Amino acid sequence: MERTYIMLKPDAVKRGLMGEIISRIERKAFKITNVKMITLNEEILREHYAHLVDKPFFPDMVTYMTSGPVLAMIVEGDDVVKGMRNIMGATKWLEAEAGTIRGDYANSTTENLIHGSDSVENAEIEIKRFFGE
Ligand code: CDP
Ligand code: MG
Repeated sequence: MERTYIMLKPDAVKRGLMGEIISRIERKAFKITNVKMITLNEEILREHYAHLVDKPFFPDMVTYMTSGPVLAMIVEGDDVVKGMRNIMGATKWLEAEAGTIRGDYANSTTENLIHGSDSVENAEIEIKRFFGE
């Protein structure tokens, strides 16, 4: 069964949107198999977002991502990696379609509520990074 790494970001926790977002995952009949609330630090963010460390927005993103706890999850289902990316919506908030999580709730590209792995291979790396073996 395919798995993906999902993380509800600090704005989702602070805004009280965890239940709303979890409901959408459950309504899609994906299975949440593991959850834990953790607070990230710059070191793990430099690893997790290695492709973005040189971008101008990276420092603001670190400030945001370390501003409070995140809800880390493993979600399972057929084609769940792509399926979760579909229900999350596009990275840029103005491109995220209404009916998606980001399209319905985000008005910032940095504070965009949710992370989801972008490939099956990265999903396994990220699950290992945040949940261990
Ligand atoms: O999260 P996603 O995989 O959709 O996008 P990404 O390109 O992997 O970027 C990771 C995160 O960096 C985004 O979710 C945003 O929080 C942040 N980001 C940003 O602040 N400004 C951008 N222009 C692009 C990404
Ligand atoms: Mg990404």
